[in-house]
Amino acid sequence: MTAPDESTRLPAAAGDELKACCAAAYSSDVVALLLGDSYHPGGTALTRRLTGHLALTDASRVLDVASGRGTTALLLADAFGVCVDGVDYSPANTALAQGTAAATGLAERVTFTTGDAEHLPFPDGVFDAVVCECALCTFPDTVQAAAEFARVLRPGGRVGIADVTAAPDRLPPELTGLGARIACIADARPPAEYAEILAAAGLRTIHTERHDAAMTRMIDQIEARLNLLRMTAAARLADAGVDLAAAPAVLAASRAAIADGTLGYTLLIAEKSP
Ligand SMILES: C[S@@+](CC[C@H](N)C(=O)[O-])C[C@H]1O[C@@H](n2cnc3c(N)ncnc32)[C@H](O)[C@@H]1O
Repeated sequence: MTAPDESTRLPAAAGDELKACCAAAYSSDVVALLLGDSYHPGGTALTRRLTGHLALTDASRVLDVASGRGTTALLLADAFGVCVDGVDYSPANTALAQGTAAATGLAERVTFTTGDAEHLPFPDGVFDAVVCECALCTFPDTVQAAAEFARVLRPGGRVGIADVTAAPDRLPPELTGLGARIACIADARPPAEYAEILAAAGLRTIHTERHDAAMTRMIDQIEARLNLLRMTAAARLADAGVDLAAAPAVLAASRAAIADGTLGYTLLIAEKSP
């Protein structure tokens, strides 16, 4: 296991390039067609499950880090009655999410801001909970991002993470390139390492759950949609960086890695000491 120290950090320039690449990929409409509303395994059902562990009240203020097109933040405001800030590196995603908030009458309780998880644009201690789904493992400096989660949380506040998990030294070559990193795989960590990264930030893990089957279902969904889109939108897929020729091998390698326990999906709830 890699310790959560300086060795896990990329030089700043490489890190910024990676964030921009990731944000551009997840801003693409064709990626939205592939992934659906939620850009994570388990969809809104798993978001509801994670939220159930956050001890929210209708007075709570929640931060959704890497809020994508806003699905989770809007669900939290609508179904749990809380106020939510969403922050995402992609200005296009932020604008789209804010538009949806206005169109659904939720703009008074949900605000989206463009920003970096490693430098959150919020004061200390203002949130009761922080949510980060399928994104921590894409941040070049996960240690710094976890420190930021802790900084903006009030004492006793909770963080809910859901993310891809991996045994990095067992990943096959198909799952180690830039594309696999953007797909939340190449830099995914074992569950215990996420807990260690959170602990180093002062966040004690109080609950974990594995949801590996949700990842297999997401792969099935991507494969089915790719098969449709390759006939109607091959050029748009290529523009979004989807390598159609490589996709079957990547999907097969992902399925095999889930089956042998190399890859998975885990939910972690951690608490900042009161
Ligand atoms: C896999 S998507 C997950 C989106 C959302 N959490 C969901 O589950 O639907 C990853 C998101 O992370 C965002 N992102 C990548 N790097 C980021 C960073 N450093 N800070 C904030 N957002 C980032 C991308 O723009 C993208 O919207």
